[in-house]
Amino acid sequence: MFKRIPGTKDILPEEVICWQTVETIARRIFSFYNYQEIRTPVIEDVSLFNRTLGTTTEIVQKQMFLIHNQEDTYALRPEGTASIVRGYLENNLDKTCSFAKLYYIGPMFRLERPQKGRLRQFHHIGVEAIGSPEARLDIEVIALADQLLKNFGISGYRLKINSLGCPQDKQSLSGILKNSFQEKLTQLCSDCQLRAKNNVLRILDCKNEDCQKIVRTLNLGQNHLCPDCLKHFEEVATGLNSLGIPFQIDPLLVRGLDYYNRTVFEITHNALGSQDAIGAGGRYNNLVSQLGGPDLGAIGFAFGVERLLLVPNNLKQTPAKRLVYLINLGEAAKSAGIKILNQLRCAGIPADMDYLNKSLKAAMRAANDNGAAFVLILGEDELKNNTISLKDMSTGTQKEVKIENLTEELKC
Ligand code: HAM
Repeated sequence: MFKRIPGTKDILPEEVICWQTVETIARRIFSFYNYQEIRTPVIEDVSLFNRTLGTTTEIVQKQMFLIHNQEDTYALRPEGTASIVRGYLENNLDKTCSFAKLYYIGPMFRLERPQKGRLRQFHHIGVEAIGSPEARLDIEVIALADQLLKNFGISGYRLKINSLGCPQDKQSLSGILKNSFQEKLTQLCSDCQLRAKNNVLRILDCKNEDCQKIVRTLNLGQNHLCPDCLKHFEEVATGLNSLGIPFQIDPLLVRGLDYYNRTVFEITHNALGSQDAIGAGGRYNNLVSQLGGPDLGAIGFAFGVERLLLVPNNLKQTPAKRLVYLINLGEAAKSAGIKILNQLRCAGIPADMDYLNKSLKAAMRAANDNGAAFVLILGEDELKNNTISLKDMSTGTQKEVKIENLTEELKC
């Protein structure tokens, strides 16, 4: 028997209900904030990610699913931001609407070592607001993430924020870090020893426990920020305070992707264990111009749907359905039953029937298991009289109804 590829999941009907609830809530909240949906392909030219996420990042170095096709190499998208900025520019949205508020829901792929909350195919619900450098937009985007979580019934999460500053500030931060790691180089893992040379910021999100111990001893502040970036960061913090959104400033938060600058944030939850981020995001003011577009500010975030479903939430809301379940007794009733079912469905009434020739008792049990609100029983006698038995499962009452009046009866 074939098995799933490790790190992928089958989402069975019982769980799909939660997925649909997440998506329905998210779409509703996105519309409150005037975001519109965008859908981009799951495969892209690999160089899109190499260029934007950074060649020294974990994702680009180790986690891309690659497809080689003659001279071209495609990648299954590991994240949504780069694709969406590509789509924004390729479809001239910078010219037609300049400021775009976009959201997306879909699968992402990373060749990781699977564990709880870490998959090779996982799903993002995210937003990208492209076109403004204003701190007000950072506040709105973080408030949107917070409102989504509240509407998913998730509490007890922690919002951490930081500012990487502009590219010059990131250089200063790199300098500070290089000095700090200088004497501890040999205690770092071999990857981080290379990172110290090539991209020292990436040491901060190394998962190696020894490296993390050293990282935790660092005493960083906001000293790397220029006056403009510091003002931006203070505006964001003041705005979040004014909205009553609790947060912590974490100078060690740099995020594992190179495109970020200025505000970065991460939302964690203790219920998740080691993979504790339910979502994360930040500003990427240079990404649009890096991909050949104008100089535009942009910010976004993404939640990992699987992780949202792992923390306590109230997403398991079974939608109320008024299913009608038909039980046919005898051959003649079976062909008449097909017509009745068709008539109900065409009238917009959810209906199903027993296809396994079960006994009346077993078929009643199946109706119950399917959550039927009404059961119809059609036997020889009923057929002769052109009637059908209608049982209301909530009250247990049963009555005979003329078949021609059935649709009207069930619509009430
Ligand atoms: P990210 O932090 O790489 O950011 O992913 C966002 C979220 O996706 C994580 O916080 C986590 O919940 C979930 N996630 C990531 N990897 C996995 C995995 N292997 N298995 C399960 N869940 C996972 C980004 O991807 C950025 N594009 C977010 C962003 C949007 N920044 C600006 N705009």
